[in-house]
Amino acid sequence: MTKYGEGVMGGKPLPKIGVFDSGVGGLSVAKAIQAALPEYRVIYAADKRHLPYGNKPLRQIHGYVLPILKDLVDQGCQVIVIACNTVTTTMIDTLRQEVSVPLVGMEPMVKPAASLTKSGIIAVCATPNTLASARYSSLKKVFAKNLKVLEPDCSDWVPMIENNQINRDQINKRIETGCQAGADVIVLGCTHYHWIEQLIKDIVAGRATVLQPEQPVIEQLRRVLTQLA
Ligand code: DGL
Repeated sequence: MTKYGEGVMGGKPLPKIGVFDSGVGGLSVAKAIQAALPEYRVIYAADKRHLPYGNKPLRQIHGYVLPILKDLVDQGCQVIVIACNTVTTTMIDTLRQEVSVPLVGMEPMVKPAASLTKSGIIAVCATPNTLASARYSSLKKVFAKNLKVLEPDCSDWVPMIENNQINRDQINKRIETGCQAGADVIVLGCTHYHWIEQLIKDIVAGRATVLQPEQPVIEQLRRVLTQLA
């Protein structure tokens, strides 16, 4: 398990926030949270041993995730950010019944994308499990009923990013296809893709807005922490 963040400030132990993902995806989120909330200690847990989660059976993923979340609770985390769209969209309701602290999730920004698009076409980049989840399909039904939603095949992006072996041509092809089909909003629905956000922005070159949920999640986390105070 990777741990990230300073333990003490002014001699006093800091209250703790847990952040969890399968690998480096959530690390970008953990860093953004630590920068926004320096009065907390962020503990980052990554299940590198079992990644990728995006194409594994859900029961198996649940078996990996629950003990890690319980360990974060045992370490004193008063809230845990599930910095993983795959886990959030497929099992956060179950996990909320099983873990004794509030869980803040991350899911594809379909609603903001729907209000931003002018072309009526959006592209959602996410793992196969996220795209197959009931939560994602309900987001589409509620917010994107009258839109065309493209779902480019990103199934091999997580290992690529995790191993730092970015295939620019392949990413270029998938994003370019979306832009040429008229997508003017691209949703990054997997935290691993945050690491290639700039590459994707370079490819779209102003033709589309690229959305990812780091800032809204920090705002939601602040609301939860205020309620806990
Ligand atoms: N970064 C995660 C997500 O947001 C998990 C990706 C994976 O392990 O396949 O979905």
